Amino acid sequence: MKIKVLFVCLGNICRSPMAEAVFAQQVHKYGLHDKIEWDSAGTAGYHIGSAPDKRTLEVLRNYEISTTHKGRRLSSQDVSDYHYIIAMDNANYEDIQRVHSQHKGTSKLHLFREFDPMATLDREVPDPYYGTMKDFELVYEQCLRSSEGLLSHLKEILKTK
Ligand code: 4NP
Repeated sequence: MKIKVLFVCLGNICRSPMAEAVFAQQVHKYGLHDKIEWDSAGTAGYHIGSAPDKRTLEVLRNYEISTTHKGRRLSSQDVSDYHYIIAMDNANYEDIQRVHSQHKGTSKLHLFREFDPMATLDREVPDPYYGTMKDFELVYEQCLRSSEGLLSHLKEILKTK
């Protein structure tokens, strides 16, 4: 059985599609695509069916990463369908936790930057929506480190399966 990972932010157009695309590239790099499955979603339904924000797409393009993701909202089924739900910030985490307890979810919940070796007390990937390209670059760097960390964790779990 594949390990299923869902990345979640608010709108599912800036951070979580970036996280998902960076993670997907690393999963392929390590040849783990037959063992791990992934997607992303938003806690809000503002951008259902939309392509990622053009600034997310630009940063990804600069690193030769592509994505075909379209925005979707976190569902009550997700909190049991996915083994891991990875929140970008504390507000996302609390929103996911609410759905999780209402629907007796079985997923494990984490903040993405719990896996970032450079994170200090602040373990959020900050919302870049009202920011500049510099903020999107920062999100990319945080995603890159957190994704490597998350994959190291999953590799350990896969060894025991
Ligand atoms: P995201 O960023 O949660 O990283 O996708 C946002 C995208 C859209 C909005 C807020 C945050 N919005 O208010 O529409």
